Amino acid sequence: MKLFLSAAVVLLVLILSLPAKAGKCPKQCSCDGKKLTVACVGKNLTEIPPTVDEITLKLDLRSNNLQVLPRGAFMHTPYLTHLNMQRSGIIRVMEGAFRTLGRVVSLNLAYNKIDILYQESFDGLSSLKELFLDHNRIEEIQPGAFTQLGFLNTLTLTHNQLVYIPNMAFQGLNNIKWLRLSHNSLNNLAPEAFAGLFTLSRLSLDHNELQFFPTQTMMRLREVTRLEMSHNPMIYLGEESVSMAKLTHLYLDHMSLQDLSEQALSGAPLLSHLDLSHNQLRYLEPLSGPKQLARLNLTGNPIYCNCYMRPLKQWARARGVTLLGTCAGPPHLSDEPLQAVALLDLRCRSREETMKEEEEVEKSTGSITPAPTSSPKQKIKCPPNCECDIESQHATCEGRGHTKVPRGFPAKTQLLDLSSNHFHYLPANSFPGSSQVISLHLQFCKIHEIEAGAFRGMKDLFYLYLSDNDLISLDHRAFDGAPKLTYLHLEGNRLAQFPGSALSLLPSLFVLHLERNAISKLEPSGLLSSVTPQLRELYLSNNSISAIAKGALDSGFLGVLHLDLNQLTEVPTHALSEASSLEELNLSQNLVPWVGPKAFQPVSQRLMRLHMDQIGLEKMSMDALLGLGPGLKTLTLRGNRLQELPDLRPLTGLEVVNLQDNPLLCDCPLLPLRRWMENVTLEVGATCGHPPELRGQRVRDVQVFMSCQENVSPPDEKAVVVPSTPKVKTSKPSQKLKVKPEKPKAKPAKPPKNQPPRKPGTPKTTKNKKTV
Ligand SMILES: *[C@@H]1O[C@H](CO)[C@@H](O)[C@H](O)[C@H]1NC(C)=O
Ligand SMILES: *[C@@H]1O[C@H](CO)[C@@H](O)[C@H](O)[C@H]1NC(C)=O
Ligand SMILES: *[C@@H]1O[C@H](CO)[C@@H](O)[C@H](O)[C@H]1NC(C)=O
Ligand SMILES: *[C@@H]1O[C@H](CO)[C@@H](O)[C@H](O)[C@H]1NC(C)=O
Ligand SMILES: *[C@@H]1O[C@H](CO)[C@@H](O)[C@H](O)[C@H]1NC(C)=O
Repeated sequence: MKLFLSAAVVLLVLILSLPAKAGKCPKQCSCDGKKLTVACVGKNLTEIPPTVDEITLKLDLRSNNLQVLPRGAFMHTPYLTHLNMQRSGIIRVMEGAFRTLGRVVSLNLAYNKIDILYQESFDGLSSLKELFLDHNRIEEIQPGAFTQLGFLNTLTLTHNQLVYIPNMAFQGLNNIKWLRLSHNSLNNLAPEAFAGLFTLSRLSLDHNELQFFPTQTMMRLREVTRLEMSHNPMIYLGEESVSMAKLTHLYLDHMSLQDLSEQALSGAPLLSHLDLSHNQLRYLEPLSGPKQLARLNLTGNPIYCNCYMRPLKQWARARGVTLLGTCAGPPHLSDEPLQAVALLDLRCRSREETMKEEEEVEKSTGSITPAPTSSPKQKIKCPPNCECDIESQHATCEGRGHTKVPRGFPAKTQLLDLSSNHFHYLPANSFPGSSQVISLHLQFCKIHEIEAGAFRGMKDLFYLYLSDNDLISLDHRAFDGAPKLTYLHLEGNRLAQFPGSALSLLPSLFVLHLERNAISKLEPSGLLSSVTPQLRELYLSNNSISAIAKGALDSGFLGVLHLDLNQLTEVPTHALSEASSLEELNLSQNLVPWVGPKAFQPVSQRLMRLHMDQIGLEKMSMDALLGLGPGLKTLTLRGNRLQELPDLRPLTGLEVVNLQDNPLLCDCPLLPLRRWMENVTLEVGATCGHPPELRGQRVRDVQVFMSCQENVSPPDEKAVVVPSTPKVKTSKPSQKLKVKPEKPKAKPAKPPKNQPPRKPGTPKTTKNKKTV
């Protein structure tokens, strides 16, 4: 009897556990039969496993290699509620891929390579609440892409390559609450771009390239309460720019605002939070419109605390608005909190002082008082063979075969496009009456010479495109009279020298493009700090630079430096010794067989992205990366000849690491790398090149490491900087694996230059990310 009972129990247990066990679990996945989840993470799967159990609710397919999601890809799992395909190498989503997934509420497609959202890409997802498409390469949203997503609450499209949003792009999102478009390259929004989003309450447009506030487009957003516009290169907000009846929170910080009309916010009566921090405002008038403003954040603006600031101060006091920020001048008030300055101290007093202050004010008034149109009625003028649009303040004569710069544009023109003509030569004073132009396009104009003072009088010029001309040198007074120039494009010319002296007239220069010129060396003439103290991004890709003198890159402000596609033979460590703010360094496609110890020490404090692809690198000192730590987010070493690598363990913040196409030697010295790879959630592409029997296998997969002693000391003790577990220093050096820092003898062949040519900077769409 007892025997029978226990047999029955065993049988019962077997039967009970059967359904869970018997549920099909695909080979590479792990399944939880109770929670009805299936996870197939990091398996390099090239297709959706066909045997996933039909009743599965959550399917996790992160870090695979799916490439294309075909029509009906999820036909066999109709009950899914959560689907995660982050980092799965997806390039295309075919129309109807999700057609059977009417119950999915969360779909994650972030960190893939999708470039176009087709009409009907998301058909069938009728219950979807959140959709993540961030960190793809989306350039285009076809009309109707989202029409079926009537329940969607949150749409995340950050970190893509959108330049333009067409009319009706988001049609059908009838329940959308938050639309996230941050970190794209948007410079243009069609007037009806957000039409139909009647429920949207929050819109994120920060970190884009908008030069003007998209007033018409925003007016359609009746329910939006929170608008994030930070980090766009706008310099002026005109009357009634913001006309949004329910807006309460507006973020306009880290832009380039030099002026704000007192009527700019008159259409935003409910505004309670306004962030204007980190702009270029020297002065601000009382803002009419918002009645509930509690705080006005002016931190990081060069506010000049004289009598011109008195009205604002009075207004703030009367309304109970707290002013955050400090005075930048005059000297006796500098650093004084705005809130603390007494009204009586805001003075423009003695004649001497007044003169001084007027000088100061004069520097900034250009844009402070946008002259009201009091001039007698002007006929709309426009030069022959050009088009002028008064309302948008644009004028264009692009590609009309002009041989002289046309004259007589409307005085209020802000964008002047003269690209693709045949000017050959720009004489002095080429742009009379164009003092309000902000953006001037002169690319592809066959210009070989610019006379001193060619841009004289262009006191508001902010963007100048001179790319793809024939400039061989630049007169040192070429940019005289355009002191606000901030973005300068000189790529695709024939400059043989860094145009340092010409740049000395541009104290505000922030981004400089010099790609595709013929510069062969960078001299220590103090080009940076003293000449262009504000320069933040310098692009020197595809020149023929072989030498960079110490001192040539001294700039405590430079953040982005591209030196790829040059003829460097070593990491310019000495030249970088003062570039302590550098965040991104691209050295790819040079010819650097050896990277010595502490090569990046001078820039280790801030460096976040380091690229050294295809530089013929044969060996790195085990101390090559010494100093770099958790701050480094991206490291690429693709296409080199490395057999070993320095210890990457101190780089605990890495988000992207590319070691592909290196002939790594899969043996015990590589154990620290292997252990590190097991530990990180990143997909680290690394394959063995040696020994021959392991060639082509993934470092992650080979078994050779099992026989290595677990605590074999890494090749060089010094490189092991694991902050949390201080190593007890052993006195005896690790003899066996010591790598001698020795220059390889044979010079490697020139790396292939098989990259596709860069797109020339298109007129109104620079795609280079700018951090303002
Ligand atoms: C992933 O699979 C693809 C296609 O099957 C293959 O070409 C590639 O080498 C694999 N990658 C890794 C890292 O195993
Ligand atoms: C004001 O702006 C600064 C700089 O952007 C920021 O750190 C601070 O938190 C802001 N203060 C308030 C109260 O919003
Ligand atoms: C670095 O330079 C290489 C070679 O020119 C280029 O392909 C790559 O896109 C650059 N990377 C970045 C982040 O600029
Ligand atoms: C793996 O991670 C654990 C916990 O974060 C850490 O203690 C250990 O040192 C790591 N191992 C390697 C080889 O990086
Ligand atoms: C480098 O510049 C040359 C000359 O301007 C151009 O022909 C070539 O395509 C560029 N190479 C890359 C990779 O951009």
